[in-house]
Amino acid sequence: MREGDALRGLLAAALLLSLAASAARKPVIRELFVPAVADMREPVTLWCRYDLAGARLYSVKWYKDDQEFYRYMPDEQPPAQTFPVPYVSLDESLCDKERVTLAQLTFNSSGAYRCEVSVEAPSFDTAHQSANMSVMALPREAPYIEGVASAYSLGEWVIANCTSNKTSPQALLSWYINGAKAEQWLLDQMPSAEEEAVGDSVSVSSMGVDAWLQTRAPRTHTVDERGLHTSSLGLRFVAERRFFQGSPARVELRCEAAVGERSWERVVSARLAHANNQQLRSASHRLNSAHLLTSSCSVLSALLACSLLRLLVS
Ligand SMILES: *[C@@H]1O[C@H](CO)[C@@H](O)[C@H](O)[C@H]1NC(C)=O
Ligand SMILES: *[C@@H]1O[C@H](CO)[C@@H](O)[C@H](O)[C@H]1NC(C)=O
Ligand SMILES: *[C@@H]1O[C@H](CO)[C@@H](O)[C@H](O)[C@H]1NC(C)=O
Ligand SMILES: *[C@@H]1O[C@H](CO)[C@@H](O)[C@H](O)[C@H]1NC(C)=O
Repeated sequence: MREGDALRGLLAAALLLSLAASAARKPVIRELFVPAVADMREPVTLWCRYDLAGARLYSVKWYKDDQEFYRYMPDEQPPAQTFPVPYVSLDESLCDKERVTLAQLTFNSSGAYRCEVSVEAPSFDTAHQSANMSVMALPREAPYIEGVASAYSLGEWVIANCTSNKTSPQALLSWYINGAKAEQWLLDQMPSAEEEAVGDSVSVSSMGVDAWLQTRAPRTHTVDERGLHTSSLGLRFVAERRFFQGSPARVELRCEAAVGERSWERVVSARLAHANNQQLRSASHRLNSAHLLTSSCSVLSALLACSLLRLLVS
């Protein structure tokens, strides 16, 4: 009985030990580096760093959307093998047991990238991890603004154009005027029925609000052979006193380009034209002259009165 117990105990211990040993030999992926967003104009290196816990490496395999494109087996000659997968183009000089380098990315190189690591017989234990990558062409610089003068007179048209150069997907452009989004702002400027009747060149009712907005915020969009989008958004409004804030009075125009979850912006500002200041000054000058004239008159009349008095007295 006791011997049997001891034997069973030994067996159990041996089993536990071997289990523990094989558990300890399970490979672990320590780091899978796959950027969430990659720029299609640059190669990208994906890293798979792993811990074999003393076991021997059998293979490292890379997959895009479950299709294998690279395999590294140290015991094979040569150790690396590649498999054709659409939109996966490898720079094999920069691929090895821990990394793969993708060149010539396109929008369709986006997907789920998986690294799978296996150890040698007898366990052939495997660890894998996957991460998504979106391929985009992020703006290289802030969008550029054209057409804004340094100063505007009241009643003059402010005409600006904001362009985002070569992005994928297309950049979402927005204008802000003194920090407020321009779309609503332009609608606020829509002429009333009476103003329309008086007859500026635009007729909102005949063209519809969207078409009217398009005349105020015209858009253009082109796509080049590499699938890169260049888009622009115009802005047109009449300079009114209320848009010029602070001292000296300025209007701030900001254009924002959003691609993916990031955005880039550029700000320009224009002041109220000097002509207006001069007009204001000459107006106040006229006021002052009138005031002077009045006071001179009173002085004059006082003098006259004095002279008259003197005449009367003498
Ligand atoms: C990307 O894939 C879509 C649909 O799968 C296809 O219509 C498009 O032509 C592909 N783009 C490129 C650049 O190959
Ligand atoms: C990758 O994206 C797919 C579909 O958008 C999603 O179902 C999946 O959970 C994502 N995988 C990871 C690792 O984030
Ligand atoms: C737009 O991008 C192209 C190529 O990247 C460059 O040659 C051009 O100067 C850019 N245009 C502007 C206005 O930045
Ligand atoms: C804005 O500028 C771009 C680039 O110079 C041009 O292609 C586009 O036609 C312009 N758009 C407007 C509304 O002026």
